[in-house]
Amino acid sequence: MCGIVGYIGKRDAAPILIEGLHRLEYRGYDSAGIALVRGKSLSVFKSKGKVRELERLLPERLKSSTGIAHTRWATHGEPSDRNAHPHVDASGRFAVVHNGIIENSAQLRRQLVANGTQLQSDTDSEVLAHLIAAHPAERLEDSVRAALRLITGTYGIAVLDGERPDTLIVARNGSPVVLGIGDREMYVASDPAALVRHTQSVVHLDDGELAVVHAEGFETFLLDGGPTSKTPATLAWSEESFDKGEFTHFTRKEIAEQPDAVRRTLSGRLEPRFQTTHIGGLELAARELLAVRRVKILGCGSAYISGRLGAQLIEQLARVPADAEPASEFRYRNPVIEADTLYIAVSQSGETFDTLAAVQEIKRKGGRVLGIVNVVGSTIARECGRGMYLHAGPEIAVVSTKTFTCTAVAFALLAVHLGRLRDLSTARGAQLLQALAGLPAQIETILTQEPAIESLAQSIARQQNAYFVGRAASFAIAMEGALKLKEVSYLHAEAYPASELKHGPLALICPEMPTVIIMPRDELFAKNVATIEEIRARKGPTYVVTHAGEPLPVAVDGVIEVPKSEPELDPILLNIPLQLLAYHVALARGSNVDQPRNLAKSVTVE
Ligand code: AGP
Repeated sequence: MCGIVGYIGKRDAAPILIEGLHRLEYRGYDSAGIALVRGKSLSVFKSKGKVRELERLLPERLKSSTGIAHTRWATHGEPSDRNAHPHVDASGRFAVVHNGIIENSAQLRRQLVANGTQLQSDTDSEVLAHLIAAHPAERLEDSVRAALRLITGTYGIAVLDGERPDTLIVARNGSPVVLGIGDREMYVASDPAALVRHTQSVVHLDDGELAVVHAEGFETFLLDGGPTSKTPATLAWSEESFDKGEFTHFTRKEIAEQPDAVRRTLSGRLEPRFQTTHIGGLELAARELLAVRRVKILGCGSAYISGRLGAQLIEQLARVPADAEPASEFRYRNPVIEADTLYIAVSQSGETFDTLAAVQEIKRKGGRVLGIVNVVGSTIARECGRGMYLHAGPEIAVVSTKTFTCTAVAFALLAVHLGRLRDLSTARGAQLLQALAGLPAQIETILTQEPAIESLAQSIARQQNAYFVGRAASFAIAMEGALKLKEVSYLHAEAYPASELKHGPLALICPEMPTVIIMPRDELFAKNVATIEEIRARKGPTYVVTHAGEPLPVAVDGVIEVPKSEPELDPILLNIPLQLLAYHVALARGSNVDQPRNLAKSVTVE
């Protein structure tokens, strides 16, 4: 996803902006650029490729204390120097960086050309610079307002005027913008990661808001009207979170962080006095939770899959009907929103456009929605207004690892809470609390098996396809294992419920089609053994993730054993080896582990 960084203050802007762009690289991009107010004019530098290519363009001395910068993830117009942001108007006075999609850009481009404007790019974003220039006003914010009123679509923007070095304008509608508050300096970004080195005090703009930013501070307004008041939030993220430390990749670092991340998710939420859990932020009284007749969980990608796990946990422990569906399709089916259904939106970034749109659809129809989110103060968290933060710490790698695990733990906490309001016994509650508290150490044990997982990964890395299978709750883990493998190693992987094998997938079983079977030692263990036998009868390689115990009654090509927890929590542990498997297959296949091709960390556009 595109990234925005802005600075205005007492120091040189260029190094701050470039460092901010580096912090945003994890979001995925294909070009980068910077605009600085120098004297009474703008200097603009931009290029296709990585931030380091942009840095090569910059002159040694770049004296300026006001600037904006951008990393672009192409939506309209191919990755190129001319399509990189910032975009400027014909006079070169106004510069704009833009995240989002301007839906009426084709019509606006035609109008601009008809009025004699020479367009300099194939992008939708460029129209903003020309529209701002076409509406001169006493105050820059009024020119920006006039331009924004002419567009339809989503935006997060930052605007510079070469003749006003003391002002920076930002605005948002559907694409996040956060202000960082410093001492006689202000920062602007599309993601707090770009600010964390300089300040922990931030203000999130809401949709339809605009901010006038000066070195001494800021003022916020509704696009269409008067001033708004904003309360600064504290990021509570350390700068170290954004460094790989001793790890080669963020992906591996974040897999390793899971024991501590889970401890933070659990922190303060186990309530042994009543053998239940305490979840601040739900903003729902026990009586309201008791009246819930159904739970509907929405998310995208791994967030959706963790929602499937969450639905299973809620149904098993609270005996409340629960299911999960992809948020990306939800609003298109004109859903019936029920008063006695509790809706839960899952999003680690809290900025996924499709999930936000699902939340807005639910609220529009009067539904109640909780957010399970990692990024404090993010759009989905604020839109839901209630829910649970993961406290997993920033997740920089594109693939979700620790946030998937922490989301599953958050659902377990919620399921116990709902269950103990209903029929879940005190004794069962005590067992589950003890098992939850034991998860971090058990994850640490699993991580020590990395060498065995790495060697197993070498056999799979040589293949072009892979199957992942599981039964009941393990099928969600098969889905997550397949998603992880394909997104980080580009090896095609598919998950299906093990019981479906004979209904089609068996046709593809052959020596070149390995199958990873997630098989806890539960009441379905024997059925999974039978599945393995059917696969092996057709010479399909089989790799098993299971619990320590008796030797398997069937020969397989690889076994990874994980510690046993309570049956409902087992899927959380069974998933950890699949993260390492995907990571090592990616290393073996030489893909870009932290920033896989075509993917972005947070998909803030449709
Ligand atoms: C998972 O590894 C991917 N990064 C992707 O599927 C991700 O889970 C999805 O885009 C949802 O992101 P969110 O949790 O930030 O909403």
